[in-house]
Amino acid sequence: MTDGTSIKHIAFIMDGNGRWAKKRHMPREFGHKAGSETFENIVNYCYDIGIGAITVYAFSTENWKRPQKEIEAIFSLFSFYIDHYVEKIGKRNVRIIFIGDRSPFSAELVRRMENVEEKTSKNERILYVGINYGARAEICAAVNGLIAEGKTNVTEEDISARVYTHLSPDPDLIVRTGGEYRLSNFLLWQSAYSELYITDTLWPDMTGDDVDKAVEEFKRRNRRYGGL
Ligand code: FPP
Repeated sequence: MTDGTSIKHIAFIMDGNGRWAKKRHMPREFGHKAGSETFENIVNYCYDIGIGAITVYAFSTENWKRPQKEIEAIFSLFSFYIDHYVEKIGKRNVRIIFIGDRSPFSAELVRRMENVEEKTSKNERILYVGINYGARAEICAAVNGLIAEGKTNVTEEDISARVYTHLSPDPDLIVRTGGEYRLSNFLLWQSAYSELYITDTLWPDMTGDDVDKAVEEFKRRNRRYGGL
C-alpha cells in the first residue's frame, strides 16, 4: 500500500468492461457488473491511501450510441449503486456529487440522485460520478451561465469556478484503463496540467496494486506547469 497523499484528486476513465466480458465469452453487461464491483473497491482503496477527491467516468454523453440493452444494464447498475452509496460509501466520510446533464433522466432518478447528494453533503472526501457527462458540454454550460450573469469578459478563474468539480483542485492524475491513449471528452478543462497514466489492464481487473503503480509513477513525474 503506497502513500497517496501527494495526490489531492485522482480521476479514472473506467474502460475495458466490454473486452473483459468478451474474453470470457460473456455479454458486455457482465463486464459492466464486474466493473461496478471494481469501482467500489478502487474508490475505497484510493481513500484508504489518503486521496481526498476522486472522479470516475461512468457514462458519457456519447454512450447513448450503444445498444439499448447495454444502456439499460448500465443504468440499472447505476440505480442499484445510488442507494448502495449512501449505505456504504457515504459512511466513509465521502460526499457524492453526480456530474453531467441530468435532463434526460426520469424525475424519480433525479430525485434519488439529489437525495444521495444531500445526505452526504457534509462529508469531507469527494466522489464525483460522471453520468451523462461530457467535458465540452460542461464548458459550454459554464460559459452560458456566465453570459446569463451578464459577464462580457470571461476569465479562466470564472470557468474553473463553474465546472462541476470546482469544489476540488484540478486532478493531479488521470488514470485510463483499457489501453487507449485519449481523453474521450473527459475533464478537458480540468486536465490542463494533469499527469496521464494509461494501463492495458481492463477496468474489471484493476486492483489496489495497480493504483499503487500509477501513484508511484506519478511521484516520479516532474511537474513543471510550463516552467523549468
Ligand atoms: C467502458 O467500458 C465502461 C463504460 C462505458 C461504463 C462504465 C460503467 C461501470 C463501471 C459500471 C457502472 C458505474 C457505476 C458508477 C456504478 P467499455 O464498455 O467501453 O469497454 P470496451 O472498451 O472493452 O468495449
